[in-house]
Amino acid sequence: MSANVPVLEGRDLTKYFWVKQGRGPLARRVPVHAVDRVSVRLDAGKVTALVGESGAGKTTVARLLARIIKPDKGDVLLAGRPAPSGRPRSYAAQVQMVFQDPFASLNPVHQVRHHLVRPLQIHHMANGNVDAAVADLLRRVALKPPGNFTGKFPHELSGGQRQRVAIARALAVRPRVLIADEPVSMLDVSIRLGVLNLLADLRDKEQLALLYVTHDIASARYLADTIVVMYAGQLVETAPSASLTDKPAHPYTQLLLSAAPDPDRAQPPHLEGRGAPPSLSAPPSGCRFHPRCPFAMDICKRQVPPSIALDTNHIAACWLHVDPAERQANENGQVLTAGQPLDNESKKR
Ligand SMILES: Nc1ncnc2c1ncn2[C@@H]1O[C@H](COP(=O)(O)OP(=O)(O)O)[C@@H](O)[C@H]1O
Ligand SMILES: [Mg+2]
Repeated sequence: MSANVPVLEGRDLTKYFWVKQGRGPLARRVPVHAVDRVSVRLDAGKVTALVGESGAGKTTVARLLARIIKPDKGDVLLAGRPAPSGRPRSYAAQVQMVFQDPFASLNPVHQVRHHLVRPLQIHHMANGNVDAAVADLLRRVALKPPGNFTGKFPHELSGGQRQRVAIARALAVRPRVLIADEPVSMLDVSIRLGVLNLLADLRDKEQLALLYVTHDIASARYLADTIVVMYAGQLVETAPSASLTDKPAHPYTQLLLSAAPDPDRAQPPHLEGRGAPPSLSAPPSGCRFHPRCPFAMDICKRQVPPSIALDTNHIAACWLHVDPAERQANENGQVLTAGQPLDNESKKR
């Protein structure tokens, strides 16, 4: 496969959830604009982090990529080909998910061995020696010696060990992609790093393509090669991790970073976190961040910002990065030339 073809790619993914608003005869169904034209790519041997506050649409993007839910618009491509609709076994074998709560994702009545044997058997992965395959999986997630763990029930394990079992179960089917949705958020702070290092190991040794979903930009900076920042259902900035954290271009990224100080980095301009994320059934006009943005201009309230390429693979959707003359031209209804739609940019990468 060409090095330029991502293992898994979402292009212009858009998802609405219809929810009931009001009561009685006045009740009506309104769309929640959960994800709006989000493009993201996952490459072999790389971690892409999807970062944003709660409600930003991260889990929805993860579920769209895993084919657990269908997009209203946009495409999912596996190795450059349109992914099948639904989540057939062949797709599940290549794209696996790990969830936030390892306790909820493991069946309390079954021992560790059972959790690993099932996917091995369903996908015919054991090569005739189930016990050896189980032991190998446990070693790969650093649960050693494996014999100490096969007979344990989930409640007999620590949170970190449970999450390792959930990761081992995902690995059982030899996926190319692992989508980890807030995999360390529910773990004790003291064991988070160990699980993040395990994910980094799997990326490096097994060349997995990893999507790391998190609200914590500091952990994204630690683990990820590329960071994608979402706000209120939209992609606001994406760049290689170092570029994004050293030179955050979008005021929202700057806000996230200022809330997660790093002793090694000069502080970005301090921003007050004014207000909270907006309702997604009636998102703000123009740039969805404008009500909270300390730099908001008139145009930000009226027009959706174009996605601007600032550096190699560094893209921000923000009017601040559009040349003032072009901004003015755009206000007057003339054609904008500097802004590139994000999908074109991400196709070039
Ligand atoms: N099944 C659903 N039905 C209705 N609304 C949903 C559903 N799933 C998510 N949402 C809404 O979509 C938005 C994005 O949610 P989510 O993707 O879970 O965000 P995140 O993972 O970033 O916290 C939120 O406003 C959430 O309430
Ligand atoms: Mg979530």
